[in-house]
Amino acid sequence: MNILILGSGGREHAFAWKIKQSTQCNQLFIAPGNGGTQSCGTNVDLSVTDFASIREFSINENVEMIIVGPELPLVEGIVDFFENDEQTKGIKIVGPDKNGAQLEGSKAFAKEFMAEFSIPTASYKEFTLQNIDDGRKYIETHEGPYVLKADGLAAGKGVLIIEEKEEAIESLEKMLHGQFGEASSTVVIEEFLKGIEFSVFVLTDGEGYKILPVAKDYKRIGEGDTGLNTGGMGAISPVPFVDKTMMNKVEERIVKPTIEGIKKRGMNYKGFVFIGLINVHNEPYVIEYNCRMGDPETEVVIPRVKNDLISLFDSLFNGTIDETKIDFKQETASTIMLVSGGYPESYEKLKTITGIDELKDVIVFHAGTKIENEQLLTNGGRVIALTAFGENHQEAVNLSRSAAEKIQFERKYYRTDIGFDL
Ligand code: AMP
Ligand code: GLY
Repeated sequence: MNILILGSGGREHAFAWKIKQSTQCNQLFIAPGNGGTQSCGTNVDLSVTDFASIREFSINENVEMIIVGPELPLVEGIVDFFENDEQTKGIKIVGPDKNGAQLEGSKAFAKEFMAEFSIPTASYKEFTLQNIDDGRKYIETHEGPYVLKADGLAAGKGVLIIEEKEEAIESLEKMLHGQFGEASSTVVIEEFLKGIEFSVFVLTDGEGYKILPVAKDYKRIGEGDTGLNTGGMGAISPVPFVDKTMMNKVEERIVKPTIEGIKKRGMNYKGFVFIGLINVHNEPYVIEYNCRMGDPETEVVIPRVKNDLISLFDSLFNGTIDETKIDFKQETASTIMLVSGGYPESYEKLKTITGIDELKDVIVFHAGTKIENEQLLTNGGRVIALTAFGENHQEAVNLSRSAAEKIQFERKYYRTDIGFDL
């Protein structure tokens, strides 16, 4: 099968690395890819939201399956675009249609979906400029901290957690007046939940499903979970505090009703549901849905999957996902993300990266890298994810950490405490 992966991060390199091991993969393309994906297949210079060019490329190269890494093409309707075209409707796209992608694309949609299907989540209200006074009143009559969420996609920056009433009201006003553009023309204010977060990934064809290994992501830039939010600074899988009892609760109360909801709403959903969860006194609540895999969670989840990834994806299109047995490595996987100094704010690019060739015992997943004149250079905030296995999370993280020390580039930064809080 000829396969196209859309995206350019560590997540897409992890998919490419795994797909390259599949006997079913004929040609592998990654658009636009990065300095690492080009060792697994062919990088193609296409934007992930340029559907017309992706269509033309797919027809010309006989692409039979497209794996969509990031959310944007899904929220913009790539599945619908391909479905509605005689020449491309047969192409298998791993990802939901526009309607399904709303689970990530609109917080208000997701909250309303959870309410309809009785899925445990923080209580909430939504506000627009029309009822801004109700929003002010809501804050005045509730205790903080206040969780303010821009309804639409805001590059991971649209959630504000604020202690003080006054400041929360000011932020609500700013958001509704366009702080995040169109994305914050509706704002969801929800109850603050205190607990520890983890992520569950479900592969579904809209009826049947399989749950993939659980993971924990470290979102903040600083040690001890301090400082600004990032795309993710590291991850581990499995997660010690998520035991069988917790996973049973997650499956019964959250996964099953979510899949039921997807079916009842008639979503064309053949792909990943990434459920961001919080454990509050041993009860799971949904923080958010994403319609794709996580990054860097993919860099620990996919290496633990023993199955052939193409066969697994194919089972979404031939109705066999329920019968498919998924096998996981029992060891713990960890990943540490090396980032450019300054990230998640401004940072420099095009720094020479050295030391990769000497690494043993880790899988190197490139994120923001590129190769120019045979030289590996930084090309983004998150640069490289270093994945390792161990008998437990400490053993795995120690391997990721010693690899992190050995790679060099100017203003390299990484968190040394990934996995050590557990
Ligand atoms: P989201 O984009 O919805 O995942 O929110 C980003 C981050 O904000 C989450 O990873 C949580 O750390 C935090 N967060 C979101 N909603 C809540 C909530 N209701 N209570 C506490 N923290 C939250
Ligand atoms: N690591 C979190 C995300 O991919 O959304």
